[in-house]
Formats: sequence, C-alpha cells, structure tokens
Amino acid sequence: MQLINGKEISAKIKEDIKAEVSQLKKNGVKVGLAVIIVGDDPASKVYVNNKKKACEALGIYSEEYALPENTTMEGLLGLINELNGRKDINGILCQLPLPRHLDEKAVINAISPEKDVDAFHPVNVGKIMIGDYDFLPCTPAGVMELLAHSNIEVEGKTCVVIGRSNIVGKPMGMLLLHKNGTVTICHSKTENLEEVTSKADILVAAVGKANFVKANMVKEGAVVIDVGMNRPEGGKLCGDVDFDDVAPKCSYITPVPGGVGPMTIAMLMANTVTAAKKQNNIKGA
Ligand code: GUN
Repeated sequence: MQLINGKEISAKIKEDIKAEVSQLKKNGVKVGLAVIIVGDDPASKVYVNNKKKACEALGIYSEEYALPENTTMEGLLGLINELNGRKDINGILCQLPLPRHLDEKAVINAISPEKDVDAFHPVNVGKIMIGDYDFLPCTPAGVMELLAHSNIEVEGKTCVVIGRSNIVGKPMGMLLLHKNGTVTICHSKTENLEEVTSKADILVAAVGKANFVKANMVKEGAVVIDVGMNRPEGGKLCGDVDFDDVAPKCSYITPVPGGVGPMTIAMLMANTVTAAKKQNNIKGA
C-alpha cells in the first residue's frame, strides 16, 4: 500500500504557481482573488482562512468579505456585481454552503464565468461537460492531479464515484470519463452499493459521511481517493473512508488530512492565475 501525499504534491504545484505569479508581476500583471463568506459556519471559516493563507504564500492579492448571517440577496449580489467589474480582481469565490435564506443558484449565476474560479457557473459546467473548459472545479481537479502525479493510469479502468454533488461527484465522474475511465456514479439510492464499489479499480469517496467506506466495499489492490472532510462531534477531522480498515487492501490511498484537501487549494490558486492570464490576454492560459 502506498500513501498518496497530497501535502507534498500540492507543495510542488504551489511552488510552480508562485514562480508564475512572480513572473506575471514582473510583466505588470497582479493576480487577485476575492473570497466571500456569509455567516459563521466554523468549517467554512477554516477553509476560507486556508485559501487566504495560500494566496499570501504565493504572492496572490486577496480580499476577504466576511458578511453577517443576515446578509440579504440584494447585498450579496451587489457585492458580486461590484467585484465582477473590478480589474484588479481576477477570481471570485463565494464559500458554500450559504445560509438557508440565500439562493445559492442565483449567487453562482451572478459570478462572471470568467472570474468563476470554482467552475460552478452553468457556463463553466457546460464547458466541462463537452471537454472544452477554462477552469475545472478545484476538488475533482485536485484528485486528477493526485492520480497523475502518482502515475496512476485512468484509461480503461473501472472508476466508481460515491456521491453525486454538483461540486464534487458529478464533475469527478466527468473528469475520469475524459481520461477514458469507465465511470459509475453511486448515490444514496444505489442498490447493492458494496457490489458496485467493490468492482472499482479507482474508488473516489465523496459522500460526506465519516468512515463510510469499509474494507468489504473495496477491491483488493484498488486506488482509493478520500474526498471526505468530516468533523464528528468532539472527534478529529476524518474522511469518508475508514482508513485503518481499508488501507491494507489498497494499492494507493489518500489520507485525511493531507490528501485531497491541500490539492483543492492548490487548484484554486492555479485557476486564479489562469483567470488573470485570460483577462490580460496572456498566451498559455
Ligand atoms: N464548499 C465546499 N467546497 C467548496 C468549494 O470548492 N468552493 C466553494 N466556493 N465552496 C465550497
């Protein structure tokens, strides 16, 4: 069993991004990201803080908008509109989930597709579908990088994704398909889940349930990627995969923390640089 070290792989990627940001700065292009967070969700606060710290470390200019829980749609859309028009802001990210009274779909739609570094806007989702995209959603893109850096071939492999969210499961399936994997997406209504998952050469868990994937659901020699970030009450951060149970059966497995998580942030930084290059008509974007 080999551990896929997301911390190490993301550090390498971030180093390259840092060099590129520095080069862009020399050419008069400053890269800027705006991050919006609404309310007091503690997990979201941690994620946003990590994104801010990554920007600082890479020389990317960032602005954080921490809005109160009682923010109105009008207020939030007004801010997004203003950021859409700013030349010095290349990427806009609104941390999800939003408080219940806010319309997530309308917020995603309001972000200019050129600045949508999450790749959640329908225009970007559609582009991903047809394989002609500018940005990839950060978490699935991070998983693909982990596979590539570990020299894990996707082509021809049986790939199973557990979870069908718009943020992870659905685009994850699409990216594996683009690499010529044979893809199945499972969800809460899947019958005989264990039977399906135990066929997977590459198994991606994005369910949002702590330690959900057990050894009996995994094929001997499988590659297991854990997208989960669960914080059981009073417990420490853990993934969707019961690591101790599953790891002995795997050829490769990602830990939590230190697997997919750091890659997500690295991909966000990469998307922000891509956005800046596109907006400044720089080739190679
Ligand atoms: N909430 C959980 N993951 C993400 C993400 O990748 N982007 C945003 N904006 N919110 C999230």
